[in-house]
Formats: sequence, structure tokens, C-alpha cells
Amino acid sequence: MNAISRLATAVSLAYLLPLTALAGEVEVLHWWTSGGEKRAVDTLQKLIEDQGHTWKDFAVAGGGGEAAMTVLKTRAVSGNPPAAAQIKGPDIQEWGELGLLADLDDVAKQQQWDTLLPPQVIEVMQFGGHYVAVPVNVHRVNWLWINPEVFAKAGATAPTTLDEFFVAADKLKAAGFMPLAHGGQPWQDSTVFEDLAFAVLGPEDFSKAFVDLDESVLTSAKMVEVFAALQKLHGYVDANAAGRDWNSATAMVINGKAGMQIMGDWAKSEWTAAGKVAGKDYQCLPFPGTQGSFAYNIDSLAMFKLSDAENRKAQEDLARTIMAPEFQQFFNQSKGSIPVRTDMDMSSFDACAQQSMLDFKEAAASGGLQPSLAHGMAASSYVQGAVFDVVTNFFNDPEADPKKAAQQLAAAIQAVQ
Ligand code: GAL
Repeated sequence: MNAISRLATAVSLAYLLPLTALAGEVEVLHWWTSGGEKRAVDTLQKLIEDQGHTWKDFAVAGGGGEAAMTVLKTRAVSGNPPAAAQIKGPDIQEWGELGLLADLDDVAKQQQWDTLLPPQVIEVMQFGGHYVAVPVNVHRVNWLWINPEVFAKAGATAPTTLDEFFVAADKLKAAGFMPLAHGGQPWQDSTVFEDLAFAVLGPEDFSKAFVDLDESVLTSAKMVEVFAALQKLHGYVDANAAGRDWNSATAMVINGKAGMQIMGDWAKSEWTAAGKVAGKDYQCLPFPGTQGSFAYNIDSLAMFKLSDAENRKAQEDLARTIMAPEFQQFFNQSKGSIPVRTDMDMSSFDACAQQSMLDFKEAAASGGLQPSLAHGMAASSYVQGAVFDVVTNFFNDPEADPKKAAQQLAAAIQAVQ
């Protein structure tokens, strides 16, 4: 090796060394395993790898994340949590109390999270006044997805009220379509229940019921009405719904077998992945009776304390990357959600996302912005689990009494508080 090439090698090594020294590994636990959601996660993985870090994917299949949370607890108990995990809402406080979460204040300060995020979001991401989680997006739960071609064939019109919803369902049924594509899993049953509750109770009583856990609202005549509507709706679900994944249900609407799906806007990730255009190939309607209101579900990655300096660096870079506009745009365009930053230009987003952002801002100003119960934003996972049990048992029993169900709901919530 001559002097020049020795120098060149030394220079390139010197250039490489600090880079490798700063490159760490991030293990990220999530449950974004559907085709569309996987595309969204891939954008994050790429942005992390572009910075020289290693991405260790810790995906645990199962919509709604129950299975992922069980696996996370096992890992944490054995003293080996991942660097980051999708933990949401009030649960972040519980993990914070265990003393396991890392402080992200330096990154937050550098990127000015305090000015970029809505106050409702900041509160959820902090424990004891320190940022311990980074918000990824804002999902809206109160959506109805429809296939307009199927609607046209059945002579049905897009519903704006619950009564119109059932009229449309009857038309679809009469024309030989599956009216409502649904997956019989507890979190999906409760997603439907929650949307019905939002429509029947309105945002104020919805909040009293599921945030304040107010017994008088939980057992009210309106809540009985919610259960009665849920029972009626069961008549439009096919016999093979049990256990079906949400994305398989979405596929049934995409391929024209079914007319509608009640689901949060992660369902849009499947439409997008299938190359379908919002407002043309499919329509997103605020769930009938909830126009102007917004049930939010904010995905967030909570960060666990790490001892290795390089991995810690990678973890901070992960948080920084997630809040950067580039990620907020690309990820959310694939995921179906809207950016959590309030300063984003929405012109490159589709019609549903633009509508969602407008409604989010409007609902925030009017009191219509409410946390999703079915997706762990309104109450603890214990309350959520109690609601899932009552709702799913009721949904699967055609003889069940709506009045009794409302009583059971209040009792089950009371028991876990
Ligand atoms: C939600 C989660 C969404 C989506 C959905 C289906 O709880 O917040 O991002 O993954 O479950 O699994």
C-alpha cells in the first residue's frame, strides 16, 4: 500500500469510525402487521436505517394490540423491554409509575414539541412533567367506509343518521350484498359499540360515560338505546364474522362483496395499499350521527430506559425522526391517520385525511373531540377490558336484554376501579 492509499484508507476509516460509534440498535414493538400498515412501518424503518442504525422489528400480530401488550409485559418483567413500544393513552402513566420509561426532554426541547403538539397530546405523552413517549399520528375512530359502486348497485344512499344507516343496510341486504363487513373480535365489537355510543349519547355524555365513568350515564335510557342499536346491527353481520381480522373485513368492502365497514381510519391503509382513491373508489363518512365530532386514537411510542449509549442515541434519533415533517407525511399517508403536528401542509394528503384534519381542529374547539375508549385513550386497560367483555357477550347473544347490558356495563366498570 503506498502512502497515498494508506492516507485514503486512514481518512475513510476516520470518517467511518464516529459514524459506527454512534450507530445503535432500536427494537420497536408494534402491531402494525396488515399489508397497508406494514407499508407505513417500512417508511420508519428506512428512515432509521438511513441514519446508520439497526432496526429490530418486534411486530406482534393482533389488531387493537392486546396480544402485543401481553408480550410486552412478559419482556418487561424479565428485565428486557424493547427500546420503544406502542403504548397509548392512560397506560403510559402506568408504565411511567413503574420507573421504566426514558426521558425524552432533550429531543422535545430541541424540536419544540411544546409548540408543535396540541395540549391534549402533550399531557398524554408526559409522565411527571417529562416527555416519555413520542406521538406518531392521530387516528379517527368514528368513520364509516363505503363502497360507492356497491351502494349504486343496491340503490342505497350514503347514510348521515343511524336511521339512514339501517335503511342503507336493508337495501344492501335485499340486493344480495353483505351489508356490513365485520370481524368478531372484542376490540372490533367495541369499536362499533363506541361509534354507536358517540352517535346516540353525543360527545358530552360520551365523555361522562367513558372518561368520568359516571354510573348514571352508563345505566341511562340512552345507553340502553346504544345496546339496542348494537343488537339490531348484528342482524347485518354475516355468520362467519367470528375471529375475522379487521383488514379481512376491509378487503370485503374493497372487493365489492360488502357495502360498509365501521372502523377507524387505519382501514384506509388497506384501501391505499390496494391503489384505491379516496372519494372515488371509496368514501369515508363520519359515522352517522357523529358529524363534527372526533373520537381520537393517538398512536405513540413510549421509550424504555436503556444503558447502552449507542442504543440510547438510536432511541433519541427514533423519537426525533417520528416528529420530523418528512416522517409525519409519508407514514401517515400510508397509515390512514393524520399528522400529530398541527403545522403540517395537508395539500398532498387525500380527501379523507384533509377532512379528518379539519374535523379534528373544529371538534377541538367545540368540545366534540373525545378520546376513544375501544383504543385505550379514554380509560385504563382494566376499564377497557371490562367494557370489551360486556359488549362482546351482549353482541354474541341475540336474546340479550339491552337494559340488563347497560347495568352490567356499569357494574363491570365499577368492579375494576
Ligand atoms: C389500534 C391502533 C391502530 C391500528 C389498530 C388496528 O389500536 O392504534 O394503529 O393498528 O389498532 O390494529
